[in-house]
Amino acid sequence: MTAKIINGKEISEKILNEIKIKVENLDIKPTLAVISVGNNSASEIYVRNKENRAKEVGFNSIVKKLPEETSKDELLSTIEKLNQNPDINGILLQLPLPKHLNEKDFLDKISPIKDVDGFNTYNAGKLFKGETPYAIPCTPKGILKIFEEEKIELEGKTITVIGRSNIVGKPLSALLTMKNATVILAHSKTKNLKELSKISDIVIAAVGKSGFLKEDMIKEGAIVIDVGINRDNDGKITGDVDFDTIVKKASFITPVPKGVGPLTIAMLISNTYELYKIQKGLE
Ligand code: GUN
Repeated sequence: MTAKIINGKEISEKILNEIKIKVENLDIKPTLAVISVGNNSASEIYVRNKENRAKEVGFNSIVKKLPEETSKDELLSTIEKLNQNPDINGILLQLPLPKHLNEKDFLDKISPIKDVDGFNTYNAGKLFKGETPYAIPCTPKGILKIFEEEKIELEGKTITVIGRSNIVGKPLSALLTMKNATVILAHSKTKNLKELSKISDIVIAAVGKSGFLKEDMIKEGAIVIDVGINRDNDGKITGDVDFDTIVKKASFITPVPKGVGPLTIAMLISNTYELYKIQKGLE
């Protein structure tokens, strides 16, 4: 079997275009604020992409770039000012933070109604209870969008998610469970990963290790979603999936780049727009 290569870029362009058209009719444009602390080179690229996409759909985009040595109080005060500013609709604190700052001290300080990432306890709690949060984390939401666009039914499917991060694995496992899938949330201490992934209809790799998921870890015709964004020594971007071999065995596969990544940004834009509407009472 040769897998269909899912074009995440195309799906994301469609979503962004729809939002752009809606924004053209708005007198006051949605505003996204991104806080970036320190000099993480990967984060700098992500933040630039987020800023560019926001501007392309007609949003105002603000980037608060803070130095590596920013103190806890300085970062808290930056967040609070953005919370209080009625012109700001979405606030994103780019992760990871420098080592001396602990993300849990800050994520809960972002007002839940401006929390575009859906990372604070209020929104994460709502998600896990099956209630409606203000925002759902962007990468898991983007992966669900891929399934929707490709008409991939989730009910009754066995899905292995590899990686239990708060950004991807945990919220994704909650969302897939709500879609009536049977979710195996595997991680670095999982002993029999290959046995689990091999019985799965869908395997989602979010481990952060280049080429981690090998062809012998999936069954024939499995659907494979690659969340990895790794940079090899030459600066080339690679995923968590051994693409060249798995593409010959899976039924669907997302490439890296142009797979899940563009959907993550499209969902960030979509979340910002949704928060704007809630704040303006347009919902
Ligand atoms: N770092 C890597 N992915 C993300 C994300 O989705 N949101 C934030 N805030 N930081 C990240």
